[in-house]
Amino acid sequence: MMDWLLVPFAYLTGSVSSAIIVCKMMGLADPRENGSGNPGATNVMRIGGKKAAAITLVGDALKGLLPVLLAKALGVDSVVLSLVVFAAFVGHLYPIFFEFKGGKGVATSLGVTLGVAWLLGFVVAATWFVAYKIGKISSLAALVAATLTPLYVWLIVGDVNLTAIFTVISLILLWRHKSNIQRLLAGQES
Ligand code: G3P
Repeated sequence: MMDWLLVPFAYLTGSVSSAIIVCKMMGLADPRENGSGNPGATNVMRIGGKKAAAITLVGDALKGLLPVLLAKALGVDSVVLSLVVFAAFVGHLYPIFFEFKGGKGVATSLGVTLGVAWLLGFVVAATWFVAYKIGKISSLAALVAATLTPLYVWLIVGDVNLTAIFTVISLILLWRHKSNIQRLLAGQES
């Protein structure tokens, strides 16, 4: 019974928008109203440079990582673990603390994959990195990594519930990137 309380807890941690907080604390412009308008590490990079972006990336990954590690430490079953993963991700997209207007979920989904299995997180991060090195576009790298993540979950973790939830997460990630996809197709993505 107590295990299920981890789900709303993960949603609350996911709702802490690192981009908005970091920009406010560093005296930078609001990422929701500048650049792409997305409160995420990529847009913080545009607005405030590498240091602010790195802090945002780590913060957004940690808020996915920590509830998953806690859930695993408490020995929850894979259904609850999958819901904790999803809740942290949804918190980032629809944060209760920021009028339900959040980001696209790339860093948070990396955090939850690291929490599920270090190797999984490493492979997802490596995929993003290789795709970025080739294409030099953050959103394209995120789309490649997101598309492959359910396959990685199945191959590395082999759990049906987690594979299903990461498939849903990947589809939502693609949907949240629809404006990026349009710009990519038009050759106008930054
Ligand atoms: O992390 C989100 C990234 O994939 C795209 O961000 O600001 O270019 O829409 P942005």
